[in-house]
This record gives sequence, structure tokens and C-alpha cells, in this order.
Amino acid sequence: MAATPHGGTLVNRVLAGEEAARWRQIVPELPRITLSQRELLDLELIGVGAFSPLTGFMTRDDYRSVVETMRLASGAVWSLPVTLSVPPEIAATLHEGGAVVLQDASAHARGILMLQESYPYDKVWEAQEVYRTDDTSHPGVRALFEQGDILLGGDIWLLDPPDYSAFGPHTLTPAEAREAFAARNWRTVVGFQTRNPVHRAHEYIQKCALEVVDGLFLHPLVGETKSDDVPAAVRMQCYEVLLRDYYPANRVLLGTFPARMRYAGPREAVFHAMVRKNYGCTHFIVGRDHAGVGNFYGTYDAQKIFSNFRPDELGLTPLFFEHTFYCHHCGGMASSKTCPHPEEAHVMLSGTRVRAMLRSGQAPPPEFSRPEVAEVLVGAFRGTAIA
Ligand code: ADX
Repeated sequence: MAATPHGGTLVNRVLAGEEAARWRQIVPELPRITLSQRELLDLELIGVGAFSPLTGFMTRDDYRSVVETMRLASGAVWSLPVTLSVPPEIAATLHEGGAVVLQDASAHARGILMLQESYPYDKVWEAQEVYRTDDTSHPGVRALFEQGDILLGGDIWLLDPPDYSAFGPHTLTPAEAREAFAARNWRTVVGFQTRNPVHRAHEYIQKCALEVVDGLFLHPLVGETKSDDVPAAVRMQCYEVLLRDYYPANRVLLGTFPARMRYAGPREAVFHAMVRKNYGCTHFIVGRDHAGVGNFYGTYDAQKIFSNFRPDELGLTPLFFEHTFYCHHCGGMASSKTCPHPEEAHVMLSGTRVRAMLRSGQAPPPEFSRPEVAEVLVGAFRGTAIA
């Protein structure tokens, strides 16, 4: 049986049928605001229930409570703000209690906000609490400082179901993922978040986790990442060749997670876990420096943060993994927990180093990447503008 959604019920704010038609009729008379790509992703994820129990963008009480205590005002665990921002001059044109059309950059209406309140906020405070830094070289902090100065809180409705056609059958809403788990008779499912091309350390921790549960839900994040991360389409291709040759089809499901990276390290690990619970996962993998960037977080900070919460309020079991690598003496994958050999025997490559190798047309070694995956990556980097 899949995990109970966070807060007890899977939220569904997608307008369909007559209700959608009714809203479409009044859309032309309503005020409109244009959402950033990041905010559109959040809108969609709220709409399909990935962010249950959220039913909209955070109002002041939830926002303050989340930033200060990693909990919603109701007390439910929630570690990252999910907010909608506008410049003050736009906020001044909107009325609390009214409906606002949420449109994309091409003026297409994508959703409705039932505006409950607009409120100012302190970006430096949010940055220090959530990201543990206000250094603008941090991509999450930079994105926060670029936002508008007023937040709009209130429930949303999603007008158009999102179009993820680029990822075909891998596009699964939380409800669809739950159905897929049930169809496979998986009672326990471990979720895996990732934003990088799959390598052997990933494969190792995924398979270690799969040893103790029924199914593995590979859930690469395909929304916005920083410009030097490898594009989602390439990463999905890597997974396809890896799954074809190295994974049992009846034990693994590959789905896309259409969210943006915030690079908030520990807080994002808790957020990633709660969201995967909404997709039906009972377990969640947290390895080394989960959702980290640069040297902003300690290697295991994203694991330590879970000790702030009781198991029953998480409602999902985090599975922690030490730093893993290929060891020449062991003759296989190992970790700092299981391998007694010196560092010289270990194959460890940073993402930056791998990207530099790929840019010069060099494939990462088979101890780091499966050759089939390396081939996809070399091909993608050859003659392309991947930074
Ligand atoms: S993340 O930003 O999505 O965390 P990445 O795709 O690199 O980045 O990592 C996906 C998951 O694998 C995370 O839980 C991360 O901690 C874990 N991980 C990545 N590399 C290793 C490694 N060498 N050893 C242990 N865990 C790892």
C-alpha cells in the first residue's frame, strides 16, 4: 500500500469539465499576473497534489511558520516556502478576496489564484533561515533576491493540465504514480531524487535500497536547474539506456519530477522526501550532500536534519547513505562505511570534473559511469552548447 499523502489527503486542484468552462468564461474579466517559469512549476505541482497538503501559495502564517520552524501553521512538517511574488506596484492593483488569473509569458491563462492576502517579507531573513546563507553566489539565494518584494497568498486552481509531452510515458502525476505502484503490487517503494546524470554511485545506493523494499521509483527532477547542470532530456536518455541493460523492469519505475531545484541542501532533502511521499513512496534515499551546491552544506547535513522530526510526522522512512565510490581493492562499489582501503584506491569524480572531461570529448571511466551512459553523455556534449 502506497504511503498516505502528507496531511492525509492527496490534493487535486485541477479544474475540469463544466467548472473549467465556467472559469474560462470569466477569465477575460479578471486581473492577470504573469508567473515566472519557477512559479509556474510550483503552480502545477500544487495543482496535481505533489505539494499536498498545500492547496495554494503560502499565506503569511504558513510562510513565517515554515521559515522559522520547518512546519506549516497546522504543525505539519514542511521545510521550504512555496510562494508567489510580485512587485509592489502590481500588488497594489489586486484586491484581497478576489480572483486573479495566473498566466505564462505568452499570456496563456494557466491557473487562478483566490487571493487571500498580500504581504511584504524579508528576503535576507528567508535566505539565512532557509539556505543558511545570504551569499548571492548561491543559486537559490540569487533566485530569491531576484523575486518581487510582495508575496501573494491564497488557494489556486490549475486551468490547464501541464504539458510534459517531452517525457512521454514517464510523465506521472502523484495519482498516476500511485496507480502504477498498485498495479505492480508494490507495498513499499523507495524514491530517488536526482538532478545529475546517473553514475555508478547512484546505481549502487538505488540497488542497496531496492534490496529492502518492493520497488524503486526513479524520479529525476526535470524543472529548472542551474545552467551548468546537464539538461533533463540528456539525463533521461542516460536513465533509459541504464534501465534497459542493468535493472529488472518489474522492480523499477522511471517518472519525471517537474520541479525546480532550489539547492537548499538539508531543507530541500526534507521537502523532497515529503513530496515523494505524495507520489506514494514509503522510503526515500538521502545520500551525500543531497541537493547541495558548492561548499554551502556539510556532507551529511541533509541527513542530520531529519532528526528534528518524529517518524510518525514524517510518515516515510528516509534511507541514509554514506559517500559511495568504486574501490579498486574491493573490486566493486563501496562506501566510507564499508571499505577499509586508502583513498588512492577509490574512484571519485566531482560533477565539475566530469563536465570538464565531457567537454573535451573524454568519456568518464567505467568505474564511474556505465559505458552506455558515458556514450550518451559524450554524444550530448559533442558539438553542443552544454556549458
Ligand atoms: S541532488 O541535488 O539531486 O541531490 P544528485 O543527482 O547528484 O544531486 O544526487 C542524487 C542523490 O544521490 C542524493 O540523495 C545524493 O545525496 C546521492 N548521491 C549522489 N552521489 C553520491 C555518492 N557518491 N555517494 C552517496 N550518495 C550520493
